[in-house]
Amino acid sequence: MTAIPLAPAPGSSTGSSRFDDLDRLRRLNPMYDAVIDEIDGRMIRIGDHWLADFASCNYLGFDLDPEIMDAVEPMVRAWGTHPSWSRLLGNPRPYIEIEERLTELLGAPDTLVLPTISHIHTTVIPVLAGEGTVLMDSQAHKTIYDGCSIARGRGANLVRFAANDPGALERELRQAPAHGPRLVCMDGVNSMTGNAPDLAGFARICREYDALLYVDDAHGFGVIGEQPSAENPYGLRGNSIVRHFDESYDNVVLVGGFSKSYSSLMAFLALPTQLKNYLKVAAPTYLYSGPSPTASLATVLAGLDVNEKRGDEVRADLRRKTMKVLDTVRALGLHTPNTSGLPIIELPLTNPADIDAVGEFLFARGIYVTLAAYPLVPLSQVGFRVQVTAANSDEEIERLCSVLAELCERFDMATSLEASA
Ligand SMILES: Cc1ncc(COP(=O)(O)O)c(C=O)c1O
Repeated sequence: MTAIPLAPAPGSSTGSSRFDDLDRLRRLNPMYDAVIDEIDGRMIRIGDHWLADFASCNYLGFDLDPEIMDAVEPMVRAWGTHPSWSRLLGNPRPYIEIEERLTELLGAPDTLVLPTISHIHTTVIPVLAGEGTVLMDSQAHKTIYDGCSIARGRGANLVRFAANDPGALERELRQAPAHGPRLVCMDGVNSMTGNAPDLAGFARICREYDALLYVDDAHGFGVIGEQPSAENPYGLRGNSIVRHFDESYDNVVLVGGFSKSYSSLMAFLALPTQLKNYLKVAAPTYLYSGPSPTASLATVLAGLDVNEKRGDEVRADLRRKTMKVLDTVRALGLHTPNTSGLPIIELPLTNPADIDAVGEFLFARGIYVTLAAYPLVPLSQVGFRVQVTAANSDEEIERLCSVLAELCERFDMATSLEASA
């Protein structure tokens, strides 16, 4: 579930030394590959240590919602623990209900549900790319990169464009070969910066150059939605980036997942029905993969109910908690790339070598975060990331803020002044 994009770091190790890397990370840092013995709300116990968890992506706190938990047993009693037909061979009725409700929520032409986004990228990107051209944002998530690499292995031409730069995409599209499909792959809300791309700009260019824009909004779905305003910048209904920017789905395929905001093992594509029917026979996941477990079908449906009833209240609470952390970060003069106010707050270190000591310090103070250490990220991006969820208590948020104040007394954190220089 970690949101670390395992981008191949320049000069990073491969092959057998990767084993040494994991060994080193485990030895030096208690926040890698940790065994969590118990949870209590958003507190976690590792050995005899209780920590406030700021590393999960359960942004809406649906993993702990009693109404959603209660939905599991009746559905397991009705359908057994796991469907175990691939979707092509048999679809329990709840799948159909999920796709219909999701299509309505997203305002999309249709939706196709599959187990994970990783499955979707590795099987759908090569199908959409064919032997044409894939244009990939240079900072795209590792799972997108993997899908694009498979597409290249099957004969597509792979081109990278400068991260989050519509002008750079346009230059590449102008030079792209005329034959074959053109597929543009990028993230929605970015898992490192917490910011959304200029979706309208990218969509306009894709339409102009007859390309298909393929956007992975794993972190935006459930958090951002339609009709954002000054008082409510996240927008309503959590129906993802296309609706957030009041864009249409023309030339756009949206990919999202339930494994973050909805705390369930399931993912989706929003797409035209004709393409959905094509992928049912062309993308191996629909034909061959084991489906999501029944418990996930139940928690997705109950999550959609809770989202309709009180999702906007939950998001308001999530934003209030996130702003408390961001206000503290700003008051301390720390740099974070987050300009959106969304609950992903990356805090880079000035000296990458401090990462192990910083991890130990946070662990000892009872704060659990996502550490971005080399070689998991390039040296220039070493730091840690705080993910706020609605289920974090106010007390946990206060604790995080006071530990951050202590941390910047002891370590060289990147400052907002350095970043703007
Ligand atoms: C942007 C992005 N895409 C995809 C994934 C993987 O999603 P899934 O667990 O559904 O394969 C992640 C998870 O880290 C992610 O951050």
